[in-house]
Amino acid sequence: MAHYGAILDGAGGEVDVFEAITENFLAGGGRPRAVLDALAPRRPIVFHGVGLGIASSAPPEPAYLEAARRLFDRYDPPWVSDHLCFHRSGRHYTHDLLPIPTTHAVLDRVCERVRWVSKVFGRPFCLENISRYVAYRRTDMDEATFFAELVRRTGCGMLLDVNNLLVCAKNLGEDPHAFLERIPPGSVYQYHLANHTDRGTCAIDDHRGPVPPAVLELYRYAVRRLGPATTIVEWDEDVPPYEVLVAQAARVKAVERTARPSRAMHP
Ligand SMILES: [Fe+2]
Repeated sequence: MAHYGAILDGAGGEVDVFEAITENFLAGGGRPRAVLDALAPRRPIVFHGVGLGIASSAPPEPAYLEAARRLFDRYDPPWVSDHLCFHRSGRHYTHDLLPIPTTHAVLDRVCERVRWVSKVFGRPFCLENISRYVAYRRTDMDEATFFAELVRRTGCGMLLDVNNLLVCAKNLGEDPHAFLERIPPGSVYQYHLANHTDRGTCAIDDHRGPVPPAVLELYRYAVRRLGPATTIVEWDEDVPPYEVLVAQAARVKAVERTARPSRAMHP
């Protein structure tokens, strides 16, 4: 919100696309909606949800889906996204993005719900890989295989968060390159890049500071393997002046240009 003025003054010329958190705009009216109304004719806006909890034991609430659909119909985003996670059990909401057990049963459940919400939203729907701090003892497949199957069975797109892969590498010893090898080329609609804080024994996904070299290097590898796609920098803590953010976006574009995939992967 600190940069609403700079964006509306036209300083956002270097930015190709804006991402808005779905839940922040579900209620009609207010300054955030007015800013979105002013921005929409100038730049594409994609919506990114944090409240769907698609793998929760209970299905998404129809009232939530309907409110989101009305929002999407108003701004016509080329795709919308949320996270592969759960966030509630029964009436208990955690307000957090919790990791799922990657089992065949959960895959069946998520596939069914992806088909449902994609139909309600009426546009391409993507799921993002989250940062994880714990792992399940018993699973049937790793997360990348789960995503690959989800894409194959439903046509769901992927929002690939490169920083989250490195957070999982630090916390759980996972191999981010092996993850990228399992994702089908052409399935990534969007990338997220961000920073994290290394606390020695664990990494915290706090989106504080510029995108570090390790994330940019893995991003280059991902673009080379999976193809270029819209890329959003997430910088949520200690937000710097607007010019710094624009410079960061330019840096990311420069990295993407050096990643030259062998063929176009995605429209
Ligand atoms: Fe993200």
